[in-house]
Amino acid sequence: MIIGIPKEIMHDEARVAATPETVGKFVKEGFTVLVEKSAGEGALYHDEDYIKAGAKMIECPQEIYDKAEMILKVKEPLFNEKLGKHEVEMMHKGQYLITFIHPASPVNHQMVKDLTKQGVTAITLDGIPRISRAQNLDALTSMSTCAGYKGILMAANKLTTFMPQMFTAVGQIQPAKVMVIGVGVAGLQALATAKRLGAITYAADIRPAAAEQAGSLGAKVIDTTVPAELAIAEGGYANKLPDDVLKREREALRSTIQEMDIVFCSALIPGKIAPIIIDEETVKGMKRGSVIVDISIDQGGNCSLTPAGDIVEKHHVTLMGVKNIPGLLPTSSTWMFSNNLYNLVKYLVKDGKVVLDRQDEVIAKSLVCIDGELVHVGAREAMGL
Ligand code: NAI
Repeated sequence: MIIGIPKEIMHDEARVAATPETVGKFVKEGFTVLVEKSAGEGALYHDEDYIKAGAKMIECPQEIYDKAEMILKVKEPLFNEKLGKHEVEMMHKGQYLITFIHPASPVNHQMVKDLTKQGVTAITLDGIPRISRAQNLDALTSMSTCAGYKGILMAANKLTTFMPQMFTAVGQIQPAKVMVIGVGVAGLQALATAKRLGAITYAADIRPAAAEQAGSLGAKVIDTTVPAELAIAEGGYANKLPDDVLKREREALRSTIQEMDIVFCSALIPGKIAPIIIDEETVKGMKRGSVIVDISIDQGGNCSLTPAGDIVEKHHVTLMGVKNIPGLLPTSSTWMFSNNLYNLVKYLVKDGKVVLDRQDEVIAKSLVCIDGELVHVGAREAMGL
């Protein structure tokens, strides 16, 4: 089987879908791997190492799309300005595509329809369920781990104070206070990182299990006032809260938020708009120089003032709405991502052929289109089909 690794074309995207290490593993197992020249440069994976691992380096992405039976990417297909064509147009019938597609998101609807029409079999990484047997395929979890770590570093860098408690010849400096709202994968990593840097940590989550995990990482857990029976949906995920309950949560968390130096926001209900937990009134009362990192920004953000894809200062508070945080840690995020992809390909390919068992939860939830049919439930619902 021929696997193609094109260079990512999204502006500032340094990640790539395979490292020399995963290429080496694929080649050993009989795959042919075509890698676009300089595809890994931004993440510090160099062409000569891909060649040593057995990859064939290709100059033109169209050649990769023409020859490969399976394309592995980081980002959804986009318009290639340099070639004047969309990546979907470069693909062909029966080709497999594995990447983050976010098919339910309205900005991707036309692209998903085009992929379907093109006869591509597309698998979206954001559809991989968080079940124990799929853990090593779960790129979303890997990227949230990166965002939790790097997000705290970005905020710490913005602070004008130390994070840890300091004992100096001129006296003692108090440690910074960091609160994490939404203690899922990203939030837990953010808490652990803030703790390692010496901050005093606080946490809030509507799921009791998440709050308990935060407590075991040494954070002081703040009561959201949301009853567990309202908080938990099917499969143990968080539920979308009624407006009055969410309003009560905002009020319950306000005074703690206003004492913080950093507030890390990562509250999300899968497939929904992120809940607004910090409103303008709360921001107005926050400490001068404090920082909000709102990593749920792709789903609208947890703070009503966060700008999407930007960093601004409002009411003396820095609001960070940086979107592609794992891309700011490209060597590690690529290493994790490429290993998730390697495991997924191994999961799908039997005796050199892709075998899609549509009854398997992993396939059923991540398959977007096949044989000219759009099958992704969330995308169909979102498109009103
Ligand atoms: P997750 O689903 O593991 O965690 C979300 C947590 O939010 C859950 O524990 C849930 O119980 C909690 N939550 C939901 N509603 C809440 C509420 N009203 N109050 C308090 N907690 C609430 O999600 P994960 O993987 O940790 O991702 C978190 C966010 O980070 C997502 O929005 C994701 O898209 C984003 N993300 C952003 C990146 C970036 O570069 N900006 C990169 C990776 C992830």
